[in-house]
Amino acid sequence: MLDGCKLPTSAGGTLIIALLCAFCMAIILTSQSTLNVLPGNVFKPSTEIRSSVKKNIVFNPPEPRSFEEAIDYANMMVEQKRRRALIEEACTAANMSRQIDLDHKGSVFKSVGHLLVDDKYKVLFGFIPKVGCTTWKGIIGKLHRKHKNDLAKISTLRNFGDNHTEIYYRLQNYRKVLFVREPITRMLSGYLSKLRNLKNLQRTWEQFIGKSIVKRYRGYNHVERYEDEIIKPWMNITLSEYIQYITDIGSNIHMGELNDHWLPLHVVSNPCQIHYDFIGHYENMAVEGPFVLRWLGVNNLISFPPVHESHASNALIREYSEISLSFLKRISTYYSFDYKAFGYHINETLSILMKGIFDEKEDD
Ligand SMILES: *[C@@H]1O[C@H](CO)[C@@H](O)[C@H](O)[C@H]1NC(C)=O
Ligand SMILES: *[C@@H]1O[C@H](CO)[C@@H](O)[C@H](O)[C@H]1NC(C)=O
Ligand SMILES: *[C@@H]1O[C@H](CO)[C@@H](O)[C@H](O)[C@H]1NC(C)=O
Ligand SMILES: *[C@@H]1O[C@H](CO)[C@@H](O)[C@H](O)[C@H]1NC(C)=O
Repeated sequence: MLDGCKLPTSAGGTLIIALLCAFCMAIILTSQSTLNVLPGNVFKPSTEIRSSVKKNIVFNPPEPRSFEEAIDYANMMVEQKRRRALIEEACTAANMSRQIDLDHKGSVFKSVGHLLVDDKYKVLFGFIPKVGCTTWKGIIGKLHRKHKNDLAKISTLRNFGDNHTEIYYRLQNYRKVLFVREPITRMLSGYLSKLRNLKNLQRTWEQFIGKSIVKRYRGYNHVERYEDEIIKPWMNITLSEYIQYITDIGSNIHMGELNDHWLPLHVVSNPCQIHYDFIGHYENMAVEGPFVLRWLGVNNLISFPPVHESHASNALIREYSEISLSFLKRISTYYSFDYKAFGYHINETLSILMKGIFDEKEDD
């Protein structure tokens, strides 16, 4: 089965995955109903565009169907304001650049390569691998049968790289949605699905980073060592090795096709430069997913699929209980900006972890 959430830039299988992933938002958004909540901006190219990417546009709420719905809407908007303020605060405290950079080599990909575009509904959807892409794929599956003809329109903002005016225009005038997730749970989820699935994906990832991890931390060359064996044994990279690798190479790497699975959420989504209007929490997807569809005015076309109970905290407890405290510290430091900006608390994660570990012992 297809797994993960890839950019529509790589070849072969990953391209299909990427497109599928990209389809999700695009299909939701390119369907036929009308949406009258967007301000009728007429685009006038101007030199001030760059510096005015900052503001969040105020959108009219959808017509509430009940009093409760109106209350829910109001509460969610308050929460959204709080989440945006957290990002502001974190960006200011860290003195992060506020300007999107499109002028240097590779910077278009880095800045806007993870934004899916829908021109019909004027939406940009920021996607981060291991943050609900599978759920969005479920939506795609449903819509695929309905809107086959719209598939051709899908792209990321990166595809407008040869005309930056087009990029700035969309950043300024479209609604921007992003889902985020507790950082070390997301990292673990990437590790489990890519380096521990004992299938082709694990082969790919062992080629991609496993080789250098084995060389670095086990001190031998896997390929040479098993030269004579037709079917090479798995490298079975451990979570400790993975964490050590991620934190050792740190921020000293360029975002590529696969490392967006572990790079900090903010590196993939650029929240200091891109002013997201809606920041969803993966952990609350069952509520916030359907909310987004309503907010975008496409809920009459598709419904959000049921969100299955997540076993993420079980996996978290199981896997991280094997990790030394110093590695746990390293990885939480590595994601510290994400924790601050997206309103997660490492102390809360640790308390889940500790409770899990010690409760488990009591049961024995
Ligand atoms: C913030 O960053 C800018 C440019 O990167 C630098 O010139 C300035 O000194 C920094 N300010 C602080 C307080 O670190
Ligand atoms: C870039 O896009 C804008 C807006 O669509 C258009 O007016 C302009 O001619 C384009 N520039 C180039 C170089 O294609
Ligand atoms: C890798 O892990 C799998 C599953 O735990 C195991 O069956 C296999 O023997 C391991 N391979 C190596 C080389 O350790
Ligand atoms: C974690 O820390 C935050 C502030 O940093 C605090 O608001 C929260 O109550 C703490 N949670 C736990 C479980 O200790």
